[in-house]
Amino acid sequence: MQDDPSLDGAYALETPDDNKRLYAAWAKTYDADFARNMDYRLPALVAEAYLAAGGGAPVLDVGAGTGLLAETLLPDLQGDVDAMDLSQEMLDVAQAKGLYRRCFAGDILQRLDCADDTYAGAVSSGTFTHGHVGPEGLDELIRVVRPGGLVLLSVNAEHFAAKGFDAYLSGLGAAIRDVTTAEVRIYGKGGGGGTHMNDTALLLSFQVA
Ligand SMILES: C[S@@+](CC[C@H](N)C(=O)[O-])C[C@H]1O[C@@H](n2cnc3c(N)ncnc32)[C@H](O)[C@@H]1O
Repeated sequence: MQDDPSLDGAYALETPDDNKRLYAAWAKTYDADFARNMDYRLPALVAEAYLAAGGGAPVLDVGAGTGLLAETLLPDLQGDVDAMDLSQEMLDVAQAKGLYRRCFAGDILQRLDCADDTYAGAVSSGTFTHGHVGPEGLDELIRVVRPGGLVLLSVNAEHFAAKGFDAYLSGLGAAIRDVTTAEVRIYGKGGGGGTHMNDTALLLSFQVA
């Protein structure tokens, strides 16, 4: 386990408790030290893809962190975006930005404090990745999104292959439809150098049936 608030530290996490410790230490500096320095593009790419695909509100931001995704979604979906995250410290930063209707702590690998079919859609950036959430996280997300609702999330491309997302999606069978993936770069050109600069993610989208 690492408590090192960095991308390598985050990728090396193994359990939800590891995640809580690392993000408690990272919350206050995440936007400036990670997102800005790395030119982190993924939250905006997910938000733009959700809106372009006609995603509606209310929408749940899964693993919302400090709220970077809502900063792009909000002009269109004002007042109708909820944030959930394992880390209360990350949510505190998001809440202070005044972007979300509701912020609540939870683990997407467990049952959330939400009724079935609560949301018209769900989004997520940077949470389905190494050391964080595997394809099992899709189950709870499908439960809280209503039939016909759009799910659009990023999955780190190496993680997608390593954790068998393809097979898991096939196993969901008739519970989802219209599955698409599109590969994007996680970081922009402003991110300088570093070993992760060319990392990619798949923008995974589907409709809940
Ligand atoms: C790399 S950050 C991404 C945050 C934000 N979405 C972004 O793109 O900046 C990953 C987030 O996932 C959260 N997380 C990790 N495991 C989780 C789980 N099982 N359930 C909910 N959130 C989780 C972490 O607490 C952290 O805030």
